[in-house]
Amino acid sequence: MNEVAEIFQTMNYGPALEQSDYVHDWLQQHQNGFELFINGEWQQPKTASTPITSCNPATGETLGHLAVAGKDDVDAAVHAAAQAFPKWSKLSGHQRAKYLYALARAVQKNSRFLAVLESLDNGKSIRETRDIDVPLVARHFYYHAGWAQLLEQEFPDQLPLGVVGQIIPWNFPLLMLAWKIAPALAAGNCVVLKPAEYTSLSALYFAELCREVNLPPGVINIVTGGGDTGTHIVKHPDVAKIAFTGSTAVGKRIRRETAGSGKKLTLELGGKSPFIVFEDADLDSAVEGLVDAIWLNQGQVCCAGSRLLVQEGISERFVEKIKRRLQKFRIGDPLDKTIDMGAIVDPIQLERIELLVAKSVDEGASLWQPALECPAKGCFYPPTLLTNVTTSNTAAQEEIFGPVLTAMTFRTAHEAVALANNVRYGLAASVWSENINRALEVTAAIKAGVVWVNSSNQFDAACGFGGYRESGFGREGGKEGMYEYLQPLEGKLSAVANVIATPAGKPDLSKAAAAIDRTAKHYIGGKQVRADGGNSRTVANHKGFYAGQVADGNRKDIRNAVEAASKATSWSTATAHNRAQILYYIAENLSYREAEFAQQLVGLTGTTRRNAKREVETSISRLFSYAAWADKFDGLVHAPPMRNVVLAVNEAIGVLGIVCPDVMPLLSFVSLFAPAVAMGNRVVVIPSERYPLPAANFYQLLETSDVPAGVVNLVTGDREALAKVLAEHHDVDAIWYHGSAQGSKAVEEASASNVKRTWVNYGKAREWVATKDGEGQRFLRAATQVKNVWLPYGDESSGGKAGY
Ligand code: NAI
Repeated sequence: MNEVAEIFQTMNYGPALEQSDYVHDWLQQHQNGFELFINGEWQQPKTASTPITSCNPATGETLGHLAVAGKDDVDAAVHAAAQAFPKWSKLSGHQRAKYLYALARAVQKNSRFLAVLESLDNGKSIRETRDIDVPLVARHFYYHAGWAQLLEQEFPDQLPLGVVGQIIPWNFPLLMLAWKIAPALAAGNCVVLKPAEYTSLSALYFAELCREVNLPPGVINIVTGGGDTGTHIVKHPDVAKIAFTGSTAVGKRIRRETAGSGKKLTLELGGKSPFIVFEDADLDSAVEGLVDAIWLNQGQVCCAGSRLLVQEGISERFVEKIKRRLQKFRIGDPLDKTIDMGAIVDPIQLERIELLVAKSVDEGASLWQPALECPAKGCFYPPTLLTNVTTSNTAAQEEIFGPVLTAMTFRTAHEAVALANNVRYGLAASVWSENINRALEVTAAIKAGVVWVNSSNQFDAACGFGGYRESGFGREGGKEGMYEYLQPLEGKLSAVANVIATPAGKPDLSKAAAAIDRTAKHYIGGKQVRADGGNSRTVANHKGFYAGQVADGNRKDIRNAVEAASKATSWSTATAHNRAQILYYIAENLSYREAEFAQQLVGLTGTTRRNAKREVETSISRLFSYAAWADKFDGLVHAPPMRNVVLAVNEAIGVLGIVCPDVMPLLSFVSLFAPAVAMGNRVVVIPSERYPLPAANFYQLLETSDVPAGVVNLVTGDREALAKVLAEHHDVDAIWYHGSAQGSKAVEEASASNVKRTWVNYGKAREWVATKDGEGQRFLRAATQVKNVWLPYGDESSGGKAGY
């Protein structure tokens, strides 16, 4: 009685522990260690090695021992997947849909078990695993059962890839498994998946579910182990794609390791996402949103809103509200249904958080933590607020991956956007304002793959997720996520000469080609400019006769061109109609000079008059196509199962580097720059090295067609040397390369430094004239990145049930 009265006074919650004995029984059955799941069977590793001990981070208790897959085991898993692929990929979409549906049902039937297991293994609260992780896992399988069913109708020109290697992190172990496996299977691929070493148990339980639903052996293989096991998957020659989620450092390493291999790659890396609160926001809602943004899963979330940017006038009041909220936080046993925060995944991660916080404080940040008791045992870290943070402070730039919020202030929307974008990442953002106009304007200006308006950390299978900049590339979820597991039919093109060798020796000056050009300069920032080094290159025609001269570009010329492109931001915000008009205008001006360009092509490349005419005519038609697409490559509106609409907007990537092939030097150049520019990118183009004149002279058309300065920049010269500078440049956001196989490898390797998006041809030629290969949505997808904007609806007066 006394106790009740006391509780009434304090209003404290008592512990409400979730039962876990049945999960412990399952662990007990595997007390001799978990094996590898290969070809539908449990297998011992082929080479003996020390197993990994998996612990409960909240108690230190050992949960199980995990086998470490060596090279031979990974080989066996890839082999099993490759064997299973022909049959699996030839099943009808409906048959695959039934398997995915069965997996979704199996997850639901085992949902409480999975929630408890995940909580024990990872340290996250049962409230989260039960209400967020596991329901989203089921939703992912249901949603992708749908794509399997509709595959032939909705992706008629696409094929599966084959064996895909998937490497996932420890922060959402089962959810990341679902994000990876569901689309891969729906598209007809087979999988080798490696869970993270701290948290493999739910993946192993999932393997049992695969057996329960009679998934054909080899379709899913699960190999446990650490970074070395991951490397074996990454380097395996029979793996067609790597999908990775984890740290930016490992992501960059994987980019380098897969360079030139032709493996498709998606990287979902870290973040330092802003949480922006304007004066007119509903502050109490924003505080709750912030709790979800940075204290969900102890802040170990790639899209955590770890940087609070709050408008100056309300900053003190808002910070006070946060502190008051945090004083009421409950931190403790993850199986306790009433806690806010559980345990950090592992002592190593705890140490990392402590080190980064100490470093930020050393650099001048002020630390505040509520007066909470953390459990004495286990990996716990209190919710933490860092103020007085400068933009260069570690806490403002580095991903801490813990329950640590960095607070900064801003005065104007302009400043908020500048601060938001002042990091190398671009994963997510949260914008709080009751003024929808302002919220949407800021949303458009933020460089991030996901923006939540007046909400945070919302996820759904229908809404793509993934980053801009060093947060990685590729999307998971949504229709765009399906493309990551498919390849266009044209990917099967045979290798044809794509780069035409320059003849040895000097061009024969005594025999000039029919049409002699004067020296074509670079075209940078809307002006013709001389090469920085003052040098020019002599261009020979197909017979080796003198045909003209072009500027010989160097590193500095590329830098100048990138600077000009970086400044031309208004092109990316110009209306699509406006961009279309300009592309039509270029086409019109090219058609006036059709005969001249055709004659130049004949003289230069030795092509027939008929083919030259066709090349120019197709170039004109292609400009029309992209003028047409400029205002038609629309995004989508998703309806996730919450009170939200989600706008999936196709945005320009930014500054795009384009390296052109030698074949069809006019048409290939037009086919590459036009889609990029139509979608709002600014481009730095390296025209064909062998036949640069048609592209180099194209600047005259750009000038007469009102193309704003800096939108298209042309730098002629040595293809490989210039491509390398472009691929290394940190202000270039993506690069398309059409040259040799070695050059493709070099570009992919160099692109790792800032995680550029790349599209390279691995030395294969494209059939530029054919519409199927030379133009279309494939180009437009490569020229855009999808931003998913979450907009909640309903207000408090109606509670969303106004009954309109
Ligand atoms: P990590 O990137 O090393 O681990 C992620 C996965 O990659 C694990 O399965 C791991 O075994 C595997 N892996 C490690 N090295 C590999 C290699 N060379 N080749 C192939 N696979 C490899 O991340 P870690 O060390 O666990 O965490 C360190 C930091 O990374 C965290 O503090 C956090 O900042 C960040 N991180 C970000 C995540 C995200 O979702 N963006 C997830 C996990 C970590």
